[in-house]
Amino acid sequence: MKRISRREAMKIAALAGGTLLLPVGLQYRGYAQRANGTVEPFTVPFRTPPVLNPTRSDSTTDYYQITMRKARVEILPGQTTEIWGYNGIFPGPVIRQRRNRVSTLRFINNLDVNTSLHLHGMTSSPQYDGYAEDFIPPGYYKDYVYSNNTSAAANLWYHDHALAQSSQNVYRGLAGMYIVQDDEELALPLPKGNYDIPVIIQDRQFAPDGSLIFDNRNQTSVMGDVITVNGVPWPRMQVANRKYRFRVLNASISRSYRLALSTGDQLTVIGTDSGLMSAPVNTPDIRLAMGERYDLIIDFSRYAIGTRVELQNLFLPNNAFFDNIDRIMCFDVVRSETDDSVVPNTLRNLEFIPEAAAVRTRDFVVQQRNDGVWVINGNGWDRNRVDANPQLEEVEIWTLRNTANVSFHPMHLHLIDAQILDRNGQPPFPYERGWKDVFYVGENETVRVIGRFRSYSGKFMYHCHNMVHEDRDMMSQFQVGRGGIDPMSAPARPLPAPPL
Ligand code: C2O
Ligand code: CU
Ligand code: CU
Repeated sequence: MKRISRREAMKIAALAGGTLLLPVGLQYRGYAQRANGTVEPFTVPFRTPPVLNPTRSDSTTDYYQITMRKARVEILPGQTTEIWGYNGIFPGPVIRQRRNRVSTLRFINNLDVNTSLHLHGMTSSPQYDGYAEDFIPPGYYKDYVYSNNTSAAANLWYHDHALAQSSQNVYRGLAGMYIVQDDEELALPLPKGNYDIPVIIQDRQFAPDGSLIFDNRNQTSVMGDVITVNGVPWPRMQVANRKYRFRVLNASISRSYRLALSTGDQLTVIGTDSGLMSAPVNTPDIRLAMGERYDLIIDFSRYAIGTRVELQNLFLPNNAFFDNIDRIMCFDVVRSETDDSVVPNTLRNLEFIPEAAAVRTRDFVVQQRNDGVWVINGNGWDRNRVDANPQLEEVEIWTLRNTANVSFHPMHLHLIDAQILDRNGQPPFPYERGWKDVFYVGENETVRVIGRFRSYSGKFMYHCHNMVHEDRDMMSQFQVGRGGIDPMSAPARPLPAPPL
């Protein structure tokens, strides 16, 4: 069965002389469409970001170096756009690391703004967690060390986290994927190699001259009218009639998506933010907020050669609509291949933390204050204030409450992986039943999550992953245990850097 997209629905309404008066592709809630018309969806070839090689490796550690710099790149066909990129590309290079190998990542700041580097999904020691005030100033560098030994294989991502600046820095390009793999995961007969594909979704808005427009709509959200995947607008991917694994990340600043296939066929979810699920879950669609990752299998053997399958974005409320925003990318089934990959019925043994294990419950109300500032329990960011102090290895339930119906808040906890107990008293979506670090708190939703605070003492941030909200000011911190390493204790150093 073919779905009717919102765009088609609007066209039908217009033809029927309906009262739906949205001029398609022009204005919606004051958002202007700019470069959208200059690129036809599904005409630009799909690609994946390059994989970054270590500069050197020894018996325990791989050493990587990334320079943050301005560059002009082609995003819209035939035009160039100035970005602020990790190694000058959009998005940054993919890092693939093995569990239990140490990564030392050197970040050099050749931009003219402060940056801070956060590896989202990693259990990091406080001084390497990308604390929002632990800046790498222009002309400085910092070496970040990650053990990769706490969580399972998972899709992480690295992105900027500079206080009040992260939405701008990430919008201009500072984001990339970081994949941790381990023996257990690699032993599964899942699609591998050329059939294991990063899919980084980001919306952007461009001026007629190709430059990026950053408009945060009076500190509410940055909405683009061009959907990019791995830096390509609405790409077209040629696939064989076999299974593929897609590591999907929503790296957008403010836009969430509802993913579905144009054929109406189900998506097979095998992993959440923090690694594989216990068993694959089939679902007709997935709600994907900023910062969330889902690992998907799509089996193209269902389709005849010559079939086009679109990855669509079904309508979500409070999400600025432009023409073609309901499309993400397409797959053209162009060749026949044998497929020895299998999606096992059991992917891994997942521990579900029982509610009874929690020693306390904390309440967090996420809202917009009367002065317009986005806050948690009425407060914005204050480096000298701590809002929760779980002890090491304690289990807590955090109730995340959004009492408004005008905005949604993907809430992210640093340091730990957690699980959703319920949303508005109902079980989470079946595809959310794994370890996660971002929790979609939709309009009028109350989400309860349970997690164990472990591996490092110290101060860690939690915040909304709409980076416009995060920047002003929906971010706070918790302190695990007593003491711990000061997040500001390993400051960036001036260039030139010694050899890595
Ligand atoms: Cu992905 Cu604190 O962020
Ligand atoms: Cu994070
Ligand atoms: Cu928010």
